[in-house]
Amino acid sequence: MDDPSPGSGARTPARAWLPTDAPSSDLSGEWLFRWHPSLSKAPDHEEWPDDEGEWDRLPVPSHWVLAGGGRYGRPIYTTRRFPIPVTGRVPRDDNPTGDHRRFVDLDESWAAHERVLLRFDGVESRYRVWLNGAEIGIGAGSRLVQEFDVTSAVRPGRNVLDVRVHQWSSSTWVEAQDQWWLPGIFREVTLLARPAGALDDVWLDAGFDHQAGAGTITPWLTAPAAAYPVRLRVEALGLDVCWEQPEDVAPIAAGQVKPWTAETPVLYEATVASAGETVRVRLGFRTVRIRGDRFEVNGRPIAFRGVNRHEIHRDRGRVFDVEDARRDLVRMKRHNINAIRTSHYPPHPRLLDLADELGFWVIDECDLESQGFEDVGWADNPSDDPAWSAAYLDRIRRTVERDKNHPSVVMWSLGNESYTGRNLAANAAWVRGRDPGRPVHYEGDLLGEYTDVHSRMYATPDELRRLGEDDAISHDLPPGAQARVRSMPVILCEYAHAMGNGPGALHVYEELFDRYPRLHGGFVWEWRDHALTATADDGTTFLAYGGDFGERVTDGVFVIDGLLGADEVPSPGLAEFARVIQPVRARLGEDGLVVENRQDFADLSAFTLRWRLERDGELWKDGLLEVRAAARSAARVPWPVDPPAADGAEWWLTVTAQLAAPAPWAPAGHEVARSQVPVRPRGPERAPVASAQVTRATPSRDRDVVRVGTAQLDARTGRLLRIGGFEMLDGPALELYRAPTDNDRGSSVVDYLLSGAAEPRQPAPTPSAAQRWRKAGLTRLAPDVLAVDVGADAVEVHTRVGVIGAAHHVDIRFRWWAEGDEVVLRTSVEPSLGWTGTSWPRIGLRLTLPDDVRTAEWFGLGPGETYPDSREAATVGKWRSDVDGLATPYLIPQENGHRSELRWLELARADGRVLRVETRAMADGTLPGFALQRWTPAELEAAAHRHELPPSDRTHLHVDAYHHGLGSRSCIVDVLPEHQLLPRSASWQLRLSIR
Ligand code: GAL
Repeated sequence: MDDPSPGSGARTPARAWLPTDAPSSDLSGEWLFRWHPSLSKAPDHEEWPDDEGEWDRLPVPSHWVLAGGGRYGRPIYTTRRFPIPVTGRVPRDDNPTGDHRRFVDLDESWAAHERVLLRFDGVESRYRVWLNGAEIGIGAGSRLVQEFDVTSAVRPGRNVLDVRVHQWSSSTWVEAQDQWWLPGIFREVTLLARPAGALDDVWLDAGFDHQAGAGTITPWLTAPAAAYPVRLRVEALGLDVCWEQPEDVAPIAAGQVKPWTAETPVLYEATVASAGETVRVRLGFRTVRIRGDRFEVNGRPIAFRGVNRHEIHRDRGRVFDVEDARRDLVRMKRHNINAIRTSHYPPHPRLLDLADELGFWVIDECDLESQGFEDVGWADNPSDDPAWSAAYLDRIRRTVERDKNHPSVVMWSLGNESYTGRNLAANAAWVRGRDPGRPVHYEGDLLGEYTDVHSRMYATPDELRRLGEDDAISHDLPPGAQARVRSMPVILCEYAHAMGNGPGALHVYEELFDRYPRLHGGFVWEWRDHALTATADDGTTFLAYGGDFGERVTDGVFVIDGLLGADEVPSPGLAEFARVIQPVRARLGEDGLVVENRQDFADLSAFTLRWRLERDGELWKDGLLEVRAAARSAARVPWPVDPPAADGAEWWLTVTAQLAAPAPWAPAGHEVARSQVPVRPRGPERAPVASAQVTRATPSRDRDVVRVGTAQLDARTGRLLRIGGFEMLDGPALELYRAPTDNDRGSSVVDYLLSGAAEPRQPAPTPSAAQRWRKAGLTRLAPDVLAVDVGADAVEVHTRVGVIGAAHHVDIRFRWWAEGDEVVLRTSVEPSLGWTGTSWPRIGLRLTLPDDVRTAEWFGLGPGETYPDSREAATVGKWRSDVDGLATPYLIPQENGHRSELRWLELARADGRVLRVETRAMADGTLPGFALQRWTPAELEAAAHRHELPPSDRTHLHVDAYHHGLGSRSCIVDVLPEHQLLPRSASWQLRLSIR
């Protein structure tokens, strides 16, 4: 149990996971199962009951904490903390253990095979195997494949396979990845026949000479003499090679081939036939090389536009489903993602088949993370402990050997967050010896002592800029290390923490990746939320996070940080990322329209480029663009058409790129890119109506009501009661607050990590935005109406919004007047002194309407939500949505649905009446934004899950002069200074009318 060895017994050496025509038997299905909450109380194997009635039934593969519906313990979430004491001893008393039994009926033919292997593709965490009562061995490495030789124990007829799985074991110390702890046999178990003369291992290393356009195949075979002659065939290349004996096996010139890249994933089917079996390998010809500080494939630098991918599903946990996985990868391709880091373990082997087919650069990561030791000052960290060296080596071997045939894998990663030490260095050395064709990655090797790329996580744009410059590096390093690190390509193995509303500033990173050749892109953290389906006491099914299963130790919501929701709904962050990394981009160059091909290999022939010119959001003319541009180049394009002479309207040119032909991941016509170029951005603001023409109705007061044109205000509070018979429930009121996003809240987990200071390169924690807002009093504002003045041509309402218990405050003045049928509202906000040390979430007003507002139509940025540092996915246009469609239901309720740069908005009520709100640019040129919400910020903030939001009987319209950025502070990088909103005065004007 405490033994750090990689396992024992009849384990066989690691090898490739190969499709073969040799017989096999998939043992998936219903198994007998007995769960013991405590290993100390679990019976020894001899005492396992024979009576099937004493066993439960459990599907395999599965996690017993999920498949058992709560009968066999529940999931636990920690980011990296161990959920068990770190005393060096694995608990016995509190160590849930699952005993599994499967009857395997085999016909006589199995007796004919030379050997029979039993393969486990993934078991969490350590397990002991018996076949027909004989102990076979112990397996470790939860996300690693392990085969056992069961030849001596297996027999024709009925076999009894027993497996005991422990939730906690020595493996726990090196498997503390940020995810749910989910014990069980969660990947397939297979019985493999190994006929006489079978191949033990095959590696066809397919290289590409980009100068000659030629492929080479370097074969590596492990096979007994009886396997020969062995024949390699690649039909599409007319290759048919026969090796009579092991000595004949040698590299083969494959002639002219189409290379494999993530953009052009060309695969060639190969078969290798021995005396005993025929295996299939798909070849992708490509050569990976680091040249200086460039990461090249087939002679060209590449940019990783990637995501970190965990294997997780809301119901199945880490149990793999190939169709779901394909759907996920297709979704990635459709969002322009070209790379995957398999955080933080090798994925199910079929995933890599999909990556080969669809085209992704993959960093294949070893199943290793020991970060929990950081909490004890890295004392006894396995990475530097000789007692662990065999286990470390075993883990990396089983990663590399299993996956070496995949062209998509362009880099091996030693693991994640396991500090540094000799075992990692030894693993790197082993990888280099075994596979010189793929660089070695490990973010924890800060000094560049044993890895090939300098990898960072959550670097700020500032640090990234310094990394990009030749003469600077990110943090204080000893001189020798500086030189080494400077000579390496740089990647961000994690950046842009996609938790809740965010991440902000993706475009800032992309711009730096584009600018500095040394920077090769990065991997957003992370692809998917890890929420699990759970049922509340009242029977409501909901998506759960840490703590929802009553864990004693948990890191809560930190597991909900994906671009894609657990309910398969993409977050606006995914749309933003897709646009930021799009392969084609149009922009206004100095002398006209420029189209950039941002791909690394392909020209633009896969795409149809179109333009459309819009006048005030309405199509005026459109057409096709003829553009030729090689990879990583830009072309100037003739300007398609000029708008007519200035007419006060807004003109925008939109350029899109669509798939010209169907791809395996999207139909023809799928839009891969969209850019917008201002032609005549905004017409002159509506000229003030000449005073002679103005029919400024004189406001009148009738007891409690003041009338300003069609508007009626409460004479004491200044509240807008109705406008043109369209009644209002509340407001306008100053709104400075927003329901904190996960990024606003920052993360206690991250603060805790940073305060540990074990990683000196990271800044000391500063209070999160939400903490500052609370401290500054934004959650305890108390408005007080100072005056409602009815003047000759306007009504002025002056309100002082104080902070309970403090002297600083904000003055807000509404000035109302009527121009014909329209009512104009000018709002001025003026903060007092004393608002120090805080940003403001927004400066805006809130107007509360009844809940029968049905649709919103607007002219501005859309269709999705936008914030100052996340607005690339949006374009200026005329958009329409129902109220619910405007909201993003983040799993943890928080600020959402803001849309920037509003020109006008029309809200239609059920009875057909329409409230129209027109904005105008403020003095600094900024246009206000809007949001329509069913809940107030306070209501959103109070709910910990979507289903906890109270029923709503109103619609809140926010019009914000300014809004704060999003940032990515849930993991370190806060809103950048240029996207922050600091307390300031503001003044903006709205024109309201009823249609
Ligand atoms: C990184 C870690 C990831 C994840 C992320 C935050 O430090 O490598 O596994 O925990 O932070 O979500």
